Amino acid sequence: MENSRSRNVERIVIGKATSDGAGVSLTRVLTQPLQRRLDPFLMLDAFGSDNPDDYIAGFPDHPHRGFETVTYMIAGRMRHRDSAGHEGLLQSGDVQWMTAGRGVIHSEIPEQESGVMEGFQLWLNLPAGKKMIEPWYRDIRGKDIPSYVARDGVAVKIIAGMSNGIEGAVTREDTEPLFLDIDLPAGSAFSAQLPETHNAFAYVYRGKVRIGGQSISHGRMAILGNGQGKDGVSLEAEESARAILVAGRPLSEPIVQYGPFVMNTQAEIYQAISDFREGRLG
Ligand code: FE2
Repeated sequence: MENSRSRNVERIVIGKATSDGAGVSLTRVLTQPLQRRLDPFLMLDAFGSDNPDDYIAGFPDHPHRGFETVTYMIAGRMRHRDSAGHEGLLQSGDVQWMTAGRGVIHSEIPEQESGVMEGFQLWLNLPAGKKMIEPWYRDIRGKDIPSYVARDGVAVKIIAGMSNGIEGAVTREDTEPLFLDIDLPAGSAFSAQLPETHNAFAYVYRGKVRIGGQSISHGRMAILGNGQGKDGVSLEAEESARAILVAGRPLSEPIVQYGPFVMNTQAEIYQAISDFREGRLG
């Protein structure tokens, strides 16, 4: 990037193996202690297995309130159903963007009994004034996600935000999220603009990339350092690699999480729990 200064890697994070839903094995990459540092992002789970025992049970009915979930399927099929009567099937390459707002109860169940199930779920916070908005969701087919091929044959999908002057599948004015999936041939390099105020990270899920001279292997997240004038990032592929690049404008509001509810105060959490128990959430 001629006119930008690339960020350096502030810290490399190795995801934690965990289990969620009815026993789905996954890697929690962005964990609760990183929520403040990576504001407005609250969680990133990476799942990927060719063993059905790791995913078959799925995520039966569960609630959410106060944020958005972005599910990106790399491989596999997942059926979702929610309390408002929506239903959809996510297939390889598709994205579901769900605004939980005041509340949804939904299930996310694999619709395959064998083969590879791989993807991500990213949680994006809502500003205080929008935590109780009406729920909304959209299923975006892979072929409808804007994409382009950059120099060196680097293939870029724009799930959210703007890249290379192209608007992504989803935009959000409060947090201006950028969510790119980047496929880098061995030896290629890719640069993206990142507003210097935004928090940003890259998660490598195939191969190995270099950022600011640091090598990041697959399965690792690089938190990108903020700093005056650091308005971009450059990735170099040491070998053929795939990575997601995520950035957003911090909300700088209190974050109080209790499981699937993320609000600004403890009182709002108690309210969410009682609304759920009394059937007022979904
Ligand atoms: Fe969910």
